[in-house]
Parts: sequence; structure tokens; C-alpha cells
Amino acid sequence: MASSMGLPYCYNPFVFRRAAKQALSSLVAFNNFAPLHHRHYRNGIFSSAYASAAIDANKELRSTDLVALEYAELNLSEKISGELGHVRIRQHVNPLSSSFAMPAPVPDWNQVFRDPTLPLMVDIGSGSGRFLIWLANRNPDSGNYLGLEIRQKLVKRAEFWVKELALSNIHFVFANASVSFEQLVCTYPGPLMLVSILCPDPHFKKRHHKRRVVQKPIVDLIINRLMPGGKVFVQSDVLEVALDMRKQFDAESCRLQHIDTIDPSMPCDGEGWLLNNPMGIRTEREIHAEFEGAKIYRRMYQKLK
Ligand SMILES: C[S@@+](CC[C@H](N)C(=O)[O-])C[C@H]1O[C@@H](n2cnc3c(N)ncnc32)[C@H](O)[C@@H]1O
Repeated sequence: MASSMGLPYCYNPFVFRRAAKQALSSLVAFNNFAPLHHRHYRNGIFSSAYASAAIDANKELRSTDLVALEYAELNLSEKISGELGHVRIRQHVNPLSSSFAMPAPVPDWNQVFRDPTLPLMVDIGSGSGRFLIWLANRNPDSGNYLGLEIRQKLVKRAEFWVKELALSNIHFVFANASVSFEQLVCTYPGPLMLVSILCPDPHFKKRHHKRRVVQKPIVDLIINRLMPGGKVFVQSDVLEVALDMRKQFDAESCRLQHIDTIDPSMPCDGEGWLLNNPMGIRTEREIHAEFEGAKIYRRMYQKLK
């Protein structure tokens, strides 16, 4: 896995905001003094990090600035062509609606990945895709990355970024993971090494819990399809959702072990939540939640060998 980005994970939000603001100021200072060809400039658009840093250096820091900062090395263009339109973030979609009942077409894996025999990481509910793109960009030769996302506009924008970065080890599919996970994974030629479900939609109302993506059938599919030694990483900023996911994966103790019992470098707090994000980068939801002072509840499991 990639190393830490150096951003504090167990943090005091006030110290964190100050540190982030300082980091943004130095980013702006560097950008102002750098010669034009050193500036992060692509297709006539400054990257999101630099643009928002330049705009917001003297304003109140927002969590979107932190997202831009954390993902600055990707230099993704924020404004993308008109055909995608504005990517509006709706609260939740209903994955049980009939419009999401059809399985997604299985891609030709040879077309979407340079080497489709490499171990695969699947991110369920990949959102904007920045998190997975960052991992794919950091690990170009060791694995492939597949994002499953139920909001099509997010998938289109993520695929636009993948093309922009010319990455050949990552692909996004517009899919209801509950419907399409198995077929996508069982047709993939290589082993399944990691599945992540990070800050899934909480669907708070009791009568909507059945819309949550972590349900017994997908838990079984994930475990069945994982290679021996493969991992599952789940997290949420909503304790109730984290507990719900934890209950379901903890129940599989004959097939899964929690990582802290295998790897002492991955310690937990007194309640069994991982102290650190093991991926080396935070997801967008995680950045927004930590900015608000929320705790992130994380578990990582390994399939028995
Ligand atoms: C709260 S967002 C979190 C996004 C990202 N994982 C993060 O941590 O920033 C949850 C994402 O899961 C997607 N999603 C919800 N249900 C899904 C399903 N059944 N299949 C695929 N994606 C789903 C939503 O559209 C949304 O983008």
C-alpha cells in the first residue's frame, strides 16, 4: 500500500484547520513564484487545488479546499467539457428502484486494463473516484482498480479523469453493486485482492436500512470471491452504519480475521476500530467528515489463507 500522505489522522480539528491553512498558503506562494511552465495548468484550466488555493487563501477554509489539497498531485481539471454537464451531488439514490435492477454489462477486461491478470481492488460506491484514481496512479504496475458507482455522472467524470491521466490500470462502471458485483468480479481473469466500502450511504430511516449496500448476500459474495489473504476494508463516519457493517463481517470469523490480530502495525482503539486509515489517502467523504470533527470508524479484515 502507498505510504501516508503526512496529513494527521488522529487530530484536533482546530490544529488541523490551522495546519491545512498554512499548507494552502505555501501552495499559493509556490504557485505565484513558479514560472508559468511549472504551474499546474492543463487544457487551459488550473487544477482544482491550485485554483481553489488561489481563490481562497484569504477566506475561511472549506473542506473542499482540503480535498483539492489532498489530491493535488493528480492535478485533475475541475471544469470538464459541456457534454457531462454540472455534476450535482444528490443526497442518496434508491438502489432498490427498478431503474437500478439491471446488471451492468461486463466490460472486455483486455480492453479496459493493460494486464487483466493483475490482482484487483474493487471500491464499492466509489463516489467521485478520486480516491481510487490516486491509488491507481501510485501503483501503476502492481494491481488493477475497479470502481462501482450508482451515479452515472460521477462515473463519466471519473472516466474522463482516467483518460486525462492516461491510466491503464483503472476502470469505473456505472453499476448497482448489489446487482452487479458478482458478475463483474467472477469474469475478471485475475485474483480479487481487496474490496473497500468506504462511507456508504447511511439510509438512516429504519425502513430504508434495506437500501444499505452492505447486506448478507454481498458480504458472502465478497468473501467467496476474495483470494486467500485478500482484504476487506470498511469505514464510516456514522457509528450506526459502521456497527452494522462490523456486525456482518465479524460474524464471518471462520473465514475472516480482523487485521490487528495478524499485523501489529495496524493497531485499534479500545473499541476495536483501526486507529489509522491504512490506504495512505483519505476518501472525500472522510475528509469532509474529519473537517467537521467527526471520528471515522474503520475495520479491515483478511481472508484466512
Ligand atoms: C457517501 S458516498 C461515499 C463515496 C466515497 N466512497 C467516499 O468515501 O468519499 C457513497 C457513494 O456510494 C454510492 N452508492 C450507493 N449505493 C450504491 C450501490 N448500491 N452501488 C454502487 N454505488 C452505490 C453513492 O452514489 C455514493 O457515491
